[in-house]
Amino acid sequence: MSESPIILAVDTSDFDTARAWIEATRESIDVYKLGLEFFLTFGAKGIQTIADESGASIFLDLKLHDIPNTVKKSAAVVDHLHPRFLTVHASGGAAMVSAAVSAVTSTSITAVTVLTSLADSDLLELGYAKSSLETAVAMARVATSAGATSIVCSPLEIEAIRAVVPRTVSMITPGVRPSDEAGSDDQVRTMTPAQAMSAGANFLVVGRPITSRWSEGKAAMAARASQLVASIYG
Ligand code: C5P
Repeated sequence: MSESPIILAVDTSDFDTARAWIEATRESIDVYKLGLEFFLTFGAKGIQTIADESGASIFLDLKLHDIPNTVKKSAAVVDHLHPRFLTVHASGGAAMVSAAVSAVTSTSITAVTVLTSLADSDLLELGYAKSSLETAVAMARVATSAGATSIVCSPLEIEAIRAVVPRTVSMITPGVRPSDEAGSDDQVRTMTPAQAMSAGANFLVVGRPITSRWSEGKAAMAARASQLVASIYG
C-alpha cells in the first residue's frame, strides 16, 4: 500500500488521548502532526514515546521563528528525534531557513508561508505590500532556495507555489474539509481532500474532521480516517 497522504493533526495536550487517536487511525495514516501544545507539555521525551510506540513518522510543528543562530540551535536540540518534518516560519528569511536546514540530519525543513488565519487586510496592516497569494509565493521561493524541502500553504495557493518551486518539494496543506463538513468551523477558505490533491498537494493536514469522531468511539474514528483517504482516490 502506498503512503497515506493524510497527516493527522494530533491537537491535544492529553497524552492518552494522543495515543488513542493514533492507535485508532494507524491503518490509514502514516504521519502524525504534534504541535507546540504537545511539545510544551511533554517535551522531546513525549514525542519520542509517541514515535516509538506508533512506528509512525512525526511532523513536528514547532513553527520556529527567530534569528538564524537561535533557530539553528533549537533545530539541533530536536534533531535526535529525527522528525520527518520540522516547521519554521518562512518569514524568518533565507538565512534563518538555511540555519535550520544546516542543523538537522534527516528532517525535511518545512517552511510555513502565510498563516491561513491572516486576511489580506491583516497583511497590509502589518506592512506587507502584496496580497497573501503573492506573499506566499515569494516566501515559498525564498524558503526553497534556502534549502526547505517542504512548504505549508493554503490549498488555494498550491498551484501558484507549485509553479515556482522545484518538483521535489513536498506541498502540505491544512484547511482541508470533506464536502460534508465545508463551512462548519473556523476554516473558511477550504477545499475537499480530492480537490487539494488534484491542485498538487502531496500531504493534507487534517484534524477535527477525524478527531471529532473520537466521541463516537475508536471504530467510528478509524472509519472516518479510512473514508477520507478513500475519498481522495475515489
Ligand atoms: O482541525 P483542523 O483540520 O482545522 O486542523 C488543522 C491543523 O493544521 C491544526 O493543527 C492547525 O494548527 C494547522 N494549521 C492550520 N493553518 C495553517 C497552519 C497550520 O490550520 N496555516
